[in-house]
Amino acid sequence: MNKAKIAVLVSGGGTNLQALIDAQAAGTLHSGELRLVVSNKADAFALERARRAGIEALTLTRAACGGQAGFEAALTEALDARGIDLIILAGFMSILSADFTSRYDGRIINIHPSLIPSFCGKGYYGLKVHEAALQYGVKVTGATVHYVNEIPDGGKIILQEPVRVLPGDTPETLQRRVMEQAEWRILPEAAELVSAQLQKNKETVK
Ligand code: GAR
Repeated sequence: MNKAKIAVLVSGGGTNLQALIDAQAAGTLHSGELRLVVSNKADAFALERARRAGIEALTLTRAACGGQAGFEAALTEALDARGIDLIILAGFMSILSADFTSRYDGRIINIHPSLIPSFCGKGYYGLKVHEAALQYGVKVTGATVHYVNEIPDGGKIILQEPVRVLPGDTPETLQRRVMEQAEWRILPEAAELVSAQLQKNKETVK
């Protein structure tokens, strides 16, 4: 069976991208193949991780593309030129329009560092999510992989993993534990699940 062609969208350090690269090397991600990494930040370390792994890496900034519509047009062109089947948002800190998400319906997934529907939606990203969880005093948090639709963090949930909040946690220690115990495990697992499903659907259509 052909592998699903995967593009990963990033904005920062790229530890979730690294988890995908490692899963591909280990063979646990085998129904899909990492073909392209796109960053909306020129200085994202994730770009370096992609290059080291021999994956094509592109930078597309909103400013250079003349705004959100130009950015999405350039992104669509890059994805379609490479026949990308699955788009993974891995620490991608920008909200995509309904036009974009509907074009790739069922083919975009995102990792979010909380148990959705808690601490999610507009304004909840990166450390802010963990700050909010600590502020609220929750004793359990975690991570969620979900499909992406026009509602920020609103698409159907694919996988979730709970993580305990410990006394004395700071946003930074909690972020790290959620990554280690949840994100880096469920993102590659979801990537494999969805890649396998997309390829199965393709075979059925043939
Ligand atoms: C991760 O914790 C990811 O879940 C979060 O940003 C971090 C990126 O780290 N994403 C969001 O908050 C999206 N709403 P990484 O660049 O090291 O993968």
